[in-house]
Amino acid sequence: MAADLQQEIRRSFNEAARDEEHFPSTIDPRIYHVKLLAEFLGDLDQKRVLDAGCGKGRFARILKERHPPVSVCCMDIAEAMLRAVPAGMERAAGSLIALPFRDAAFDAAYAIESLEHAVDIETAVAELCRVVKPGGRVFVIDKNARQWGRLETPHWEKWFGRRELEKLLRRHCRQVSSRFISYWEDVEPDGLFLAWLAVK
Ligand SMILES: C[S@@+](CC[C@H](N)C(=O)[O-])C[C@H]1O[C@@H](n2cnc3c(N)ncnc32)[C@H](O)[C@@H]1O
Repeated sequence: MAADLQQEIRRSFNEAARDEEHFPSTIDPRIYHVKLLAEFLGDLDQKRVLDAGCGKGRFARILKERHPPVSVCCMDIAEAMLRAVPAGMERAAGSLIALPFRDAAFDAAYAIESLEHAVDIETAVAELCRVVKPGGRVFVIDKNARQWGRLETPHWEKWFGRRELEKLLRRHCRQVSSRFISYWEDVEPDGLFLAWLAVK
C-alpha cells in the first residue's frame, strides 16, 4: 500500500477515536460476534492471542474479563485507538500488512471489521496467518461484498466475497469455513456480516 494512503487511513482513525458512538470501547457480550469469537477460540488459559486492528479493544476486553490468564495483544495503526485499550493489556502500534511480530508468535489471531481497511488484503491475510502457530486459529469478521453500498464507506474500504476470503485463507490454513452472522443469535442474518473461521 502506498505510504500516503496508509497515513491517510491512520489519520482518519486517529480522529475517529473521538467518536465513541461509532467506534465504541465496549460491546454487549451477548452480541453473537463476541459469542462466536469466544467459542471458536476455545480454551484460552495461558494462551497468547492477537487482536489485529483492535480499535479500542472492545473484543479483547471481554476475552480478558472472562479468562484473566489469557494474554491478548491489541494491535492497531491508530495510536488514539490504542490509548483507549484497557490498562493491563499489551498494546502494539503497527500495520496489518506488516505485523510487528515474529512468525508463530500467537496461539490465535482475529481481525474484526479491520481487514476491510487493509487495502492489500492478500498481504494482510498472509500476515495474520504467519503470526499464528500451526494448529492455531484465525478468525475474521467483515462485511459481504454483495451488500456493498448499504453503508457509507471511506474510499479505501473493501468488503469481501465469501469464497474470495476463504480462498485467501486456504493458502495458509488447512481448515477454512465461513458463515453469515447477525448481531443476535436468534435473528436470521441479513447478509451484511460474514465470519471466516480457519485453523492453520
Ligand atoms: C472499524 S474499526 C474496528 C475496530 C475493532 N476491531 C472493533 O471491532 O471494535 C477498524 C480498525 O482497524 C484499524 N486499522 C485500519 N487499517 C489498519 C491497518 N492497516 N493496520 C492496523 N490497523 C488498521 C483502524 O485504526 C480501526 O481501529
